[in-house]
Amino acid sequence: MKDQHGRKIDYMRISVTDRCNLRCLYCMPKEGIESVLHEDILTFEEIIRVVEAAAKIGIQKIKITGGEPLVRKGIVDLIKRLKNIQGIEQVTLTTNGVLLKDVVKELLEAGLDAINISLDTLNRIKYQRITRKDKLEEVLLGIEKAVALGIKVKINCVPMKEFNEADLVDIAAFAKNRKIDVRFIELMPIGLGKSFQLITYQDVKEKLEKIYGRSQSSDIVLGNGPAKYYNFKDFQGSIGFISAITNEFCEECNRIRMTAEGDLKLCLHYNKGIALRPLLRNDINKEELQKILEEAIYIKPRNHCFLQPSSNDLENKNMVQIGG
Ligand code: GTP
Ligand code: 5AD
Ligand code: SF4
Repeated sequence: MKDQHGRKIDYMRISVTDRCNLRCLYCMPKEGIESVLHEDILTFEEIIRVVEAAAKIGIQKIKITGGEPLVRKGIVDLIKRLKNIQGIEQVTLTTNGVLLKDVVKELLEAGLDAINISLDTLNRIKYQRITRKDKLEEVLLGIEKAVALGIKVKINCVPMKEFNEADLVDIAAFAKNRKIDVRFIELMPIGLGKSFQLITYQDVKEKLEKIYGRSQSSDIVLGNGPAKYYNFKDFQGSIGFISAITNEFCEECNRIRMTAEGDLKLCLHYNKGIALRPLLRNDINKEELQKILEEAIYIKPRNHCFLQPSSNDLENKNMVQIGG
C-alpha cells in the first residue's frame, strides 16, 4: 500500500527479541539492558497473525532482527512459517553472526533468502573492545559457511572514529575476495550511538578509493534497504553505503517495524508507535488488525528528525530494543 506521502510500503522489520549475546558499545550498555519480560514478548503465533494481516495490505518482504535474532529459540521454525504466508515473497535476517555457523544450513533449508552480518573490524582485540566479547572467530566461521552454502551474504560495518577507522579497507576486502557485499553504515545518534563519532560515507569512500582506485556508482538493486552501491575494479561483490545522516533517504522509505513486544513503529527515529500486543491478546479479528495497520502506515512520518534533536518525539531506546 502507499502512505500519505506516496511511498510504497512493502517491507517490515520484525524484532524477535531484545536480548543479545554481544554488548556493542554503540548499541547496548556493558551491564546489558533490563530485558522485556518473557510474557511481554510476542509469541510466534502472534507474529504470524500480524504478518498475515500485513501481507494482505501489501507487505511482501520481512526482515528478522533483534537484539540478536538467533538467540531466540525456534527461530528456524518461525522463518519457515513466515515463508509460507501467502503474499510474503522474501524473508531475510540481520545477525551478529556469533551463532550462525551452527544454524545456517537449517536457515537455508527453512527458506531464508539472505543474511546480513554485522562486523566492524577484523582485528580480534578491537572486536573485543567494540563488542565486549571475544567472538570474532565464530563470526568469521559463520560467514565462510554461509558463503559456502550459497546463501546471499552482506556485511554491515559501522565506521567510528574512535574504534575502527584503520580497519575499513580490510573489511572492504571481503567484497574484493568473495561474492559478498559490504555496507558501511553511518552511525546514527540513537541511544548509545550518540556517544561516538561517525565517519561519513564520503570519508569512507575516499579512503577506499585511495587503496582500490575509483569506484563507479551502481544501479543494481541488492536487497531492499536504503543502501547505495558502488563497484570497485576487480571486486566480486559491491560496496554499499547507508548514509542516514549525510544523505537522508526517507523519500524512498519502504518500511515499517515491529519491536519484540509488539509495538508497531512507523519510523526508526520516533518514539511513537502502536501497541499491537494488547490488541492481539484481546482477540482482535483479522479485518480489524488489517485496518489498524493500514491506518497506521498511511500516516507514517515523512522523514527522520536526527538533525532536530530537541523534538519531543525522539526515540530514546537503544538500537538493541528496536532492531535497527
Ligand atoms: P536489505 O538491503 O534488504 O538487506 O536491508 P537493510 O540494509 O535495511 O537491512 P539491515 O538490517 O542490514 O540494516 C542495515 C542498517 O540500515 C541498520 O543500521 C539499520 O538501522 C539501517 N536502516 C535500515 N532501515 C533504515 C531506515 O529506514 N532508516 C534508517 N535511518 N536506517 C535504516
Ligand atoms: N547507527 C547505525 N547502525 C547501527 N547499528 C546498531 N546501532 C546503530 C547505530 N546507532 C547497526 C548494527 C547492525 C545493524 C542492524 O544496525 O551494527 O549492523
Ligand atoms: Fe524511513 Fe524513518 Fe528510516 Fe527515514 S529514518 S528512512 S522515514 S524509517
